[in-house]
Amino acid sequence: MTVRDDDAPVVLSHPVRAAYLAAEGFEEVLAEELARLGVDIMAWHGRLALSAAPPVAASWALDIWLEPEVHAVGSIGAAVALLRGRQRNWACHAVRHHRRAALIAERLPPVAARPLAFPAAAPTGHLGAWTLLAPDRLLLSTRKSSPFVNGVAPFVEDRVGPPSRAYLKLWEACARLGAWPVPGERCVDLGASPGGWTWVIARCGAEVVAVDRADLAPEVAAMPGVTLRRESAFGIEPAELGPVDWLFSDIIAYPTRLLALARRWIAAGTAARIVMTVKFQGTTDHETAALFAAIPGGRVLHLWHNKHELTFLWDREAAGRAGSSPGRLPTT
Ligand SMILES: C[S@@+](CC[C@H](N)C(=O)[O-])C[C@H]1O[C@@H](n2cnc3c(N)ncnc32)[C@H](O)[C@@H]1O
Repeated sequence: MTVRDDDAPVVLSHPVRAAYLAAEGFEEVLAEELARLGVDIMAWHGRLALSAAPPVAASWALDIWLEPEVHAVGSIGAAVALLRGRQRNWACHAVRHHRRAALIAERLPPVAARPLAFPAAAPTGHLGAWTLLAPDRLLLSTRKSSPFVNGVAPFVEDRVGPPSRAYLKLWEACARLGAWPVPGERCVDLGASPGGWTWVIARCGAEVVAVDRADLAPEVAAMPGVTLRRESAFGIEPAELGPVDWLFSDIIAYPTRLLALARRWIAAGTAARIVMTVKFQGTTDHETAALFAAIPGGRVLHLWHNKHELTFLWDREAAGRAGSSPGRLPTT
């Protein structure tokens, strides 16, 4: 797979039916996943993989453009009129022709990309995306999978409270879910040390049993509602902990082990929701990622704050509902 260089013209042999935006450095991983899903990449436009096949739920895409259209635009005014005529909110993905793209963007209604102050849900306003394939050729999609501009999830960061930056992953997962732990809820945090996620949960006012063989940062261990179990997460029987509203896991372990762990908790039926990081070392275990994605009630996302890892989100209610079929497209 070669990601096309910026100056080469984008050659489209067929109409574009989906576009997948890879996070920086993850173009190859996305291309591998698309190949596994049977999707050919017709061309790359920066980090955007253009395909002639209908959109599929590619976990490694930060954002999926679900209804792409290519239009000839003879002038900046024509591009602006086209976009404004379709809907209000547009995110520009500027890859080339930056100046022209900026001139178009500044004539569109502003889209607030203000950092979120957690707890807060991701923006719910309808957001489309566009880019210039050539000075006079515009690719747009009125619908996309991520509620964020180009999949980037900005937050007002806390540089004092949490003991690690991992808390941003959990903030982003909760913002995407539009839900987070609340007072009165019981949570388990597997692989909790040094305590970024436990800090998020306790700050939300929920109770949390933090499980790790390593210690929590003392200031996190001292937070109200936090209990530490210094043991392996794999040795805990879900029933032992009783019903929990949230099972969180950020354990570093082989994906196959994490899959077995998620399946065990799901089979036990004691957790209402799961948020689990699936980490990869070296080559990406696409097969196990696909097995996570196939779990009814689950979805797998490459969040903006994820590195070489995916986030598995699962909901017991969704699992029980008809229609929560594997491979569905992420919706926001
Ligand atoms: C990425 S760190 C977790 C960071 C944490 N979520 C935070 O926000 O600070 C991964 C953790 O998994 C823990 N871990 C690895 N194997 C484990 C096991 N079998 N049981 C419990 N924790 C484990 C490690 O000790 C490590 O603290």
